[in-house]
Amino acid sequence: MIQQLTLLFLTTMIIIGVGQDAQDSQVAPLPVGPGFDPKAIVGASECTECHTHSAAIWEKSVHHGTITDMPRSEKGREIAKKMGIRRIKSESLCLDCHSTSHWEDEKLKPSSGVSCESCHGAGMGWVKLHGEFSGKEEGQETADEIARRWRASEAAGMLRPTMIADIARNCVSCHVVPHEELVNVGGHPAGSDFELVAWSQGNIRHNNFYTKGKENKVASIERQRLLFAVGMLAEMELLLKAVGTAEKMGDYAKANARRFAALRKKLAAAAKATSQPDLIKALEAVASLKLSLKNQEAILAASESITASLDGLAATSNGSDLKGIDSMLPEEADYK
Ligand code: HEC
Ligand code: HEC
Ligand code: HEC
Ligand code: HEC
Repeated sequence: MIQQLTLLFLTTMIIIGVGQDAQDSQVAPLPVGPGFDPKAIVGASECTECHTHSAAIWEKSVHHGTITDMPRSEKGREIAKKMGIRRIKSESLCLDCHSTSHWEDEKLKPSSGVSCESCHGAGMGWVKLHGEFSGKEEGQETADEIARRWRASEAAGMLRPTMIADIARNCVSCHVVPHEELVNVGGHPAGSDFELVAWSQGNIRHNNFYTKGKENKVASIERQRLLFAVGMLAEMELLLKAVGTAEKMGDYAKANARRFAALRKKLAAAAKATSQPDLIKALEAVASLKLSLKNQEAILAASESITASLDGLAATSNGSDLKGIDSMLPEEADYK
């Protein structure tokens, strides 16, 4: 392990060099958007037949409308032009984040705006499995069968609400906008301040399946604390990767560095207020980190520390140890 780290450290030093613009960087580009296999996308209509209550909310959301509204907007056309893209809807770079796309005639085609499978995973391997009660009537499965059904669904790529770290990482894979050229050349916004409680509990909230449509519940206070803390670390993990692999000190690196600085203050406050060990470890990893392109190897190493803290927190906390965060949580009026 130590040897691997030393090797990684040495190679990153060599690759990045010390120039202000790390032009020769050979670090692999970041994956853009959720990156699910488009060949395994079944399309929202395969979900909405059972999930009518979720669908009613999704159909009114910004995510649903984006693939029709964005390409018609002046800003959309302007970005596309600067990126040399003639048809937004047949160009995979925009589709990666503004739609859920499937594979048809050897091409990526938008099935709809950002839909169920962009957040819960491409469904082909689990869509039947997860909702069929192991071939029995609802309520007749043994506890063992239920556990096996969910395990198998997760193994087949289902992202369940309980998998909070993966859910958060998935949101930021679009919302950090991890694409340097799109921001520097295309003039695309480098995302805006993302905070998982406000962003998940407003217009996109669809916690109305298990209540059979009777109530669209706000997440419990314990879950809000976790969403807040996990969301913060997931965003930080990716912002650091973005700055750590940036080739130029352009709008992209600058915007991400600014977002990181604001997030670090939030992390410091949360670590202090909770004394939660993973938050403290995360803060130690970034407390004195300098965000310059000269420092990219340290930035990428810090991102890896954040990965460990994020996974640690998600695996061990049920939110009851994060009570100190309560005063930092957004008010309902601030939900997006
Ligand atoms: C045949 C009906 C059916 C279809 C089609 C279906 N679901 Fe479900 N889904 C269910 C049922 C039933 C449950 C709850 C199972 C239970 O109570 O154990 C469920 C639960 C879920 C959950 C919550 C899981 C959890 O951990 O609580 C999600 C998320 C979900 N479905 C997403 C989807 C998506 C996305 C699609 C389309 C790719 C889809 N479903 C298609 C019936 C269906
Ligand atoms: C990595 C994911 C990603 C990719 C790729 C992407 N977008 Fe976006 N786009 C977003 C997100 C996230 C937002 C919302 C930004 C925010 O929160 O401020 C957005 C917002 C926009 C907006 C609204 C901006 C505004 O100022 O209101 C336009 C227009 C847009 N994108 C056009 C495009 C076009 C055109 C392409 C392809 C050339 C593209 N996007 C590719 C993620 C992406
Ligand atoms: C933008 C991402 C996103 C999209 C799009 C999305 N979901 Fe969800 N879904 C989530 C998140 C996050 C949660 C957990 C919310 C929470 O903790 O408050 C969730 C929760 C659920 C649940 C559990 C609800 C309950 O009653 O507890 C079901 C079922 C579900 N989604 C199905 C769907 C279906 C079907 C679609 C498409 C019509 C869909 N989702 C679209 C992110 C998304
Ligand atoms: C596939 C990419 C993608 C994923 C995954 C995704 N989003 Fe988005 N989201 C977008 C884009 C693109 C927009 C902007 C659409 C537009 O303005 O046309 C957006 C807009 C939003 C908005 C509306 C913001 C506003 O200013 O009104 C909210 C809220 C939101 N997303 C929350 C979430 C949450 C929470 C998650 C994870 C559970 C998530 N998103 C996952 C692409 C994504």
